[in-house]
Amino acid sequence: MQLEDRIKACLQHEVPKHMAIIMDGNGRWAKKRGLPRIAGHHEGMKMVRKATKLANRLGIDVLTLYAFSTENWTRPKPEVEYIMKLPEQFLTTYLPELVEENVKVDMMGTKDRLPFHTKVAIEKAMEDTKENNGLLLNFALNYGSRSELICAMQQMLRDHEQGVFNAHQVDEDTFRSYLLKPDLPDPDLLIRTSGEIRLSNFMLWQLAYTEFYFTDVLWPDFTEEHFVEAVEAYQKRSRRYGGVRNDGG
Ligand code: IPE
Ligand code: IPE
Ligand code: MG
Repeated sequence: MQLEDRIKACLQHEVPKHMAIIMDGNGRWAKKRGLPRIAGHHEGMKMVRKATKLANRLGIDVLTLYAFSTENWTRPKPEVEYIMKLPEQFLTTYLPELVEENVKVDMMGTKDRLPFHTKVAIEKAMEDTKENNGLLLNFALNYGSRSELICAMQQMLRDHEQGVFNAHQVDEDTFRSYLLKPDLPDPDLLIRTSGEIRLSNFMLWQLAYTEFYFTDVLWPDFTEEHFVEAVEAYQKRSRRYGGVRNDGG
């Protein structure tokens, strides 16, 4: 079936409300071609644009893209510096398009360690798209789930000391309210490209009941067809959340 028909068919069924992608394999994509790793990061940016457009078309509410982890700072300095230029490059080129397409840009992660120019680019994109109410494009940048959970715990302990709540009042909703994006629904579908079958410190709390889709395709090779394939696979899954379906299945 042609891509257009497959997209139409996807639209006949429930699409994930929140889709998250661990965009992995840029370095290996470049290595295979005898190019420096940064060439892979540059190429990967093109797919970010395509994924955003397609997610928007499919009526997905939130697309969270894992762009840089708290552990990625351990990479060689020139690579880190290059990656930190990408938000600026991406947004300089595509911000008008995002505004036009009603996409709202957001960021999940700690801004304090980001270079000034990276922060400025993201803040401008957030400001320019703040009135938009189409797809929420959530960049996980300098994001690490353990760090998120520790910060949540620290703030909870401070609030507890202040008498904001008692220990027995803490439930899942209370805990969630201390996470970085408490208002986002949990991801329905998580994709990881490049053949690695691990989470690499990504959204450990939020992924408790998420459907996982792992593919060997490297992120810069991940086409719209691959994206649709993941959504089709999701639509065939039976989510039970520990219960049984009405038909007993
Ligand atoms: C993902 O691609 C991008 C980031 C982590 C920033 P990688 O750079 O991890 O590519 P591989 O896994 O080395 O191929
Ligand atoms: C996870 O990929 C982080 C991003 C895609 C941004 P990594 O390449 O950093 O993960 P590991 O090191 O293979 O676990
Ligand atoms: Mg990697």
